[in-house]
Amino acid sequence: MIVWVSLVPTSVELFPKNHFDVAVVIDVLRATTTLNFALNAGASEIIPAGSVEEAHNLAEKYPDALLCGERNGIKVPGFHLGNSPSEYTPQSVAGKTLIFSSTNGSVMIKRAESMAKNVFLCSLRNVSAVAEKIYSLKPENILVACSGREGFFSIEDGYCAGMLYEKLEELDEDTTGANDSATITYLLVNYFGYDVDKIFHESIHARYLTNDLGLWKDIEDAGQIDADKIVPILMEGKIVA
Ligand code: MLT
Repeated sequence: MIVWVSLVPTSVELFPKNHFDVAVVIDVLRATTTLNFALNAGASEIIPAGSVEEAHNLAEKYPDALLCGERNGIKVPGFHLGNSPSEYTPQSVAGKTLIFSSTNGSVMIKRAESMAKNVFLCSLRNVSAVAEKIYSLKPENILVACSGREGFFSIEDGYCAGMLYEKLEELDEDTTGANDSATITYLLVNYFGYDVDKIFHESIHARYLTNDLGLWKDIEDAGQIDADKIVPILMEGKIVA
């Protein structure tokens, strides 16, 4: 397997469209973590929206859907749910369609749609499950797209990409990193090991969510490596388990 990594959102645009067998979107804080919670809690499908306006337009088409997501980490006014994993419980989302718009994650999910046949969502919570799913497909080329933060690199996304790369290599020793971005993610995992607290300590977004918004529980939820087995997959514009 050949692993290409995009560390910042704009570098995804540099790859040829539909070139990959698999694309993986990572937004540890918090979109891909939260969407894992949503599917675990029984949400039937999630429609990613690239903007708040697009989310409202989709809501006209899906009047029973819940509007979910954030701007600046805070629930969008008028939306049903924000972007804290713990908001997504069976009581709040089971059996429901969700329309989800976040600052970086949902935008990257929509971009990834045109990059590969199979698009999976990965966070630290399901990194081994995603690696096993990818391995089962025996793909040649894999794109790992880190969502980052407002156009910039996010260390927790790079770290999760490195962990995915490491797990793919454990499953298939012929796995190689195709670009320097893949190598740097691998080095991040070598450096930090499984010390997620240390990674979050270095993360600007983790510091924003905790120090500015008081969302300590979100960081705790996002840092639980391999707590989930669900692999969210994007199919015909909708994310399902
Ligand atoms: C995003 O997609 O930009 C994030 O998940 C931001 C956040 O709510 O922490």
